[in-house]
Amino acid sequence: MKSQNLKGKVALVVGVGDDQGYGWAIAHALADEGAKIVIGTWTPIMKIFQMSWDSGKFDESRKLSDGSLMQIEKVYSIDAMYDTPESVPEETKTNKRYLGSTGYTVSEVAKSIEADFGKIDILVHSLANGPEVKKPLLETSREGYLSAISSSSYSFVSLIRYFGPIINTGGSVLNLTYIASNRVVPGYGGGMSSAKAALESDTRTLAFEAGRKWKIRVNSISAGPLASRAAKAIGFIGKMIDYSHENAPLQKDLTSSEIGHAATFLLSPQASAITGIVLFVDNGLHAMATSTDSPTLI
Ligand SMILES: NC(=O)c1ccc[n+]([C@@H]2O[C@H](COP(=O)([O-])OP(=O)(O)OC[C@H]3O[C@@H](n4cnc5c(N)ncnc54)[C@H](O)[C@@H]3O)[C@@H](O)[C@H]2O)c1
Repeated sequence: MKSQNLKGKVALVVGVGDDQGYGWAIAHALADEGAKIVIGTWTPIMKIFQMSWDSGKFDESRKLSDGSLMQIEKVYSIDAMYDTPESVPEETKTNKRYLGSTGYTVSEVAKSIEADFGKIDILVHSLANGPEVKKPLLETSREGYLSAISSSSYSFVSLIRYFGPIINTGGSVLNLTYIASNRVVPGYGGGMSSAKAALESDTRTLAFEAGRKWKIRVNSISAGPLASRAAKAIGFIGKMIDYSHENAPLQKDLTSSEIGHAATFLLSPQASAITGIVLFVDNGLHAMATSTDSPTLI
């Protein structure tokens, strides 16, 4: 039985589309500590997530340490690219993946959650999208670059802007970043490296601004590689996992639950004096300057 440190707290995790990614692992770890879980799922995949949940596909992954199944209080359809209904372009509204969906902009979801739950205590941003991620930066279009920044970085600013007023004093916010923000990772293109750099910088600025305004904390976890749906779409996640296994100080698999546990700490009152940090949870790979399996060095 876990300590249930977060009993009574309401946690919103945005960016859960299946049981394979970091968002799910964080929700699971928070649930294991007793938090009430509310999920934000990207509008175009809302139906498939709901169907998979209803069919029991996630049941094995829902198991908590006491044997019970993780419960989700409510799943909200959200597209963090859009702040208000007026900002949704006509082509999105009429896109077949959005038809029939309403109330998915950040400000509307904040209003719905306030109506349903009052205030929340924890907010997790576990989402990113770079339509040209497979292109080197040099070949990335302005449109692709700005889209990566909009959905992967500004979305975080927007979430804090609209949810800040409904986060309880002492609450905590977290995002997920990647070391490509400040070291070159060939292949992580399309402006995604720039988007992560912006996200980390914004973590510090928002820690100050939201700390002063609402007395909440804002942190980031720089996670090592995980074969999530988003990472698989980039195309070389298997190689990144092998590389990490070979070269990190800790030569072991990195599990999403390790990120879940670190996140739970940062999001809990135990981290009450920690804000504005980027915490590496990557088996120590960030500390290496050289690769130990380089043929040049062997
Ligand atoms: N997988 C890795 O190796 C790795 C490493 C470091 C950091 N991260 C970060 O972790 C976070 C979670 O990614 P993941 O790898 O667990 O993959 P994931 O596929 O589980 O999560 C990404 C989610 O973002 C959602 N999303 C995309 N655009 C959105 C939008 N406009 N509005 C709302 N939701 C949207 C997707 O539907 C998906 O559910 C991301 O920020 C990612 O960059 C991942």
